[in-house]
Amino acid sequence: MKNIIIAIDGFSSTGKSTIAKLLANKYRYMYVDSGAMYRAVTLYAKENNLVGNDFLKKKELISNLKNISLSFKSNIDLGFSEIYLNNKNVENQIRSLEISQLVSKVSAISEVRKKLVNEQQLMGLDKGVVMDGRDIGTVVFPGAELKLFMTASADKRASRRYKELIEKGDNVHFKDILFNVQERDKLDSTRKDSPLVKAKDAVEFDNSDMDIHEQFDKICDLVDHVISEKG
Ligand code: DC
Repeated sequence: MKNIIIAIDGFSSTGKSTIAKLLANKYRYMYVDSGAMYRAVTLYAKENNLVGNDFLKKKELISNLKNISLSFKSNIDLGFSEIYLNNKNVENQIRSLEISQLVSKVSAISEVRKKLVNEQQLMGLDKGVVMDGRDIGTVVFPGAELKLFMTASADKRASRRYKELIEKGDNVHFKDILFNVQERDKLDSTRKDSPLVKAKDAVEFDNSDMDIHEQFDKICDLVDHVISEKG
């Protein structure tokens, strides 16, 4: 069976990572959460006082990029990989609302994108990869054999993210999450470098009213079809 690249893009909290993990598991592909990489750089910037609610030390962050090393290590118990920033597991820290509020500023910096896109492309050299993000089908792997574009209403997405954070024990308010989802939609879609847009050849999924099993079945049909065509 031929290995392909599956690129999954879309707005925040559209369930991209849930689908990507299920696909990686079924097809025995490597799963790469590219958003986790932008979040980890943001965490580094926050910890080094290079970004905050009302400031961004862009030049200093750019000159610090060489000190940022990112890697994914598999967690056997969870069944997927977790992200490490300079050899420290930061999987939990990068999911906070504070990092979500800062990440769009950091991910708009072209030098940050260049570094991460390069690392992402290296991970795809042997194919057999499912990667999710905002620019995977347009910039990272424009030649990906299958491209998916996920959407859902902002309200549905904010409810999903709110539930996740509450279950983790974070003290958050729904209105702040909804505001963050809408802000990030705007910033991610309007930034100059690699804005979030649907690739021309991507298949669009609006999953506002679709459960995960229904989506997964439809997507597996697409994957099987592409693999049989290209194989
Ligand atoms: O997928 P996520 O919500 O964890 O991503 C966090 C942020 O990272 C998102 O708001 C925009 C940025 N991002 C990006 O610019 N390009 C990617 N390929 C992935 C994420």
